[in-house]
Amino acid sequence: MAKLNLGVLASGGGSNLQAIIDNCEAGRIDAVVSVVISNNSGSGAMARANKHGIPAVHLSGRTCPTPEALDDAILDALQQHRVSLVVLAGYMKKLGPKTLAAYENRILNIHPALLPSFGGEGMYGHHVHEAVLASGAKVSGVSVHLVNAEYDRGPIVAQRVVSVLDDDTPDELAARVLKEEHKLYSEVIGWFAEGRVSVKCGRAYTAPRK
Ligand code: GRF
Repeated sequence: MAKLNLGVLASGGGSNLQAIIDNCEAGRIDAVVSVVISNNSGSGAMARANKHGIPAVHLSGRTCPTPEALDDAILDALQQHRVSLVVLAGYMKKLGPKTLAAYENRILNIHPALLPSFGGEGMYGHHVHEAVLASGAKVSGVSVHLVNAEYDRGPIVAQRVVSVLDDDTPDELAARVLKEEHKLYSEVIGWFAEGRVSVKCGRAYTAPRK
């Protein structure tokens, strides 16, 4: 069977992208990163793509005059590279309606906390971990979910719990969570490659391995 073609969108350092590339290259998941798209031409994610010979495309408000043109350009790039699963890995922008419709239930995002808590607009990066610590919660974690038009509200596909320690700083908690992100994201992509994930009535289900 053909490998699952991934289109990864990333704005920042790209450590999740790197973990995905490594797992694809090592054959741990039956997938290949076909294209990386970034709104930040100087991002670590773009550099990582270049290093691995993966097509890297810069698409942003600078390269496209309107949000509609950006939506078209992102969808074009994904389709040109025959992407079947879109993977948001630290992508700081909302996707446009055409891309969301074309890839309904085939766009994943990773969030560094246990949704539906600590998510939504403005909840990214250190803001998330600061809010978790301020709440006094004893656990945080990782959520991988499908993307719809609302921030962090699409069906949850998988979660992993990470302990919050009494003397944690936001950076320490972020680092512990990130380690789990690197494992869980590839695991979930593997489930998609095996055709095991389905969505019914707004909930995501993963069938057992055959
Ligand atoms: C991760 O913490 C992810 O959960 C969030 O953005 C961060 C991206 O980190 N959506 P990296 O660029 O993959 O290192």
